[in-house]
Amino acid sequence: MADQYGRPGDGARRGRTPAIRWDEPPEGPVLVLLDQTRLPAEEAELVCADAASLVEAILTLAVRGAPLLGLAGAYGVALAAARGADVDEAADALAAARPTAVNLARGVRLAQAAYRAALSGGTTATGGTGGPGAPGGSPVGAGDRAGAARAALAAARALHARDADASAAMARHGLALLDELLPGGRHRVLTHCNTGALVSGGEGTAFAVALAAHREGRLRRLWVDETRPLWQGARLTAYEAARHGMPYTLLTDSAAGSLFAAGEVDAVLIGADRIAADGSVANKVGSYPLAVLARYHHVPFVVVAPVTTIDLDTPSGASIEVEQRSGHEVTEVRMPHTAAGAGGGVPVAPLGTQAYNPAFDVTPPELVTAVVTEMGAVSPVTAPAIAGLCARSRQV
Ligand code: MRU
Repeated sequence: MADQYGRPGDGARRGRTPAIRWDEPPEGPVLVLLDQTRLPAEEAELVCADAASLVEAILTLAVRGAPLLGLAGAYGVALAAARGADVDEAADALAAARPTAVNLARGVRLAQAAYRAALSGGTTATGGTGGPGAPGGSPVGAGDRAGAARAALAAARALHARDADASAAMARHGLALLDELLPGGRHRVLTHCNTGALVSGGEGTAFAVALAAHREGRLRRLWVDETRPLWQGARLTAYEAARHGMPYTLLTDSAAGSLFAAGEVDAVLIGADRIAADGSVANKVGSYPLAVLARYHHVPFVVVAPVTTIDLDTPSGASIEVEQRSGHEVTEVRMPHTAAGAGGGVPVAPLGTQAYNPAFDVTPPELVTAVVTEMGAVSPVTAPAIAGLCARSRQV
């Protein structure tokens, strides 16, 4: 049967490719990504055999979304180590690839620390950082690079497993919160950008809550936006919602206001790329206007993110570095995998037009009804409440 793009379908196989996986073919270890720039048209795999190709995949958004960037960073260090490359150089390049999602640098530094600890002596490859699938416990002496590489991989795998667990817990806590905020109903939820299995080791963050509501028969409609600058709602969230048979409707970002005015939104659920110590939330550009709309229309605005997205070292929203992306994403209409400015896109503005294209915006805590993490939900969103979530996480 043909798929919705008219290609002969392999429908039975669609939707099975994980967003990220480690593989060890005879030619050597690789990181295999689901190339998100090609969705929804095709589920193509992108194979990274070194950190440089992974950096490129991060820059082009083949792999993206805060939790998944954390996993990519950690596996990237493991890849560099397993390939005998300069691990510190690879770690720095990976950590600097994108600035806003704190998970990326965190994942990198976690695996790098495991590598260094093992290299400098005497731990085991699984010691303290192992997880499901971690290689089994061989002794690592000082200078044992193969053992240190195994330790970095074990750290990446453990992070992967923790992220999957966090997804499931966020879905539970988020659904409980929705029921508290909107008792007894079937919810009409607006979500922005993409926060499902494509960004996570599990079923995601905000999307996982909507999916849990759907499975319980409590999702009346999922309103999906981010139709510019990157169409991530259209290309990715609609793709995920369709796979799960969820009732969803796509809208242009500029249609959100009239949707609220018509009383069609019960709650907004979004993810986060970084949550500052004061509870400010950086997320895909367009999130802040939704928060303003939600406040005006008395609709809960809920942020769902793992504790790894909270950065207590970032004191406030003003200290979050917001990535600025190429103006070509605005002045051209193109699919992300086609080259910008090189004839890959159709120009929609006069040649030479300047564009303002921040990848993210920052929502102040007073506009956020609640932050949901795997450690539970907090509302109101205050600095002590955010610190409390991190403290709870450290106790586990
Ligand atoms: O630029 P992206 O695609 O990496 O941005 C992704 C988002 O903004 C997501 O909403 C965010 O990472 C939360 S995903 C849990």
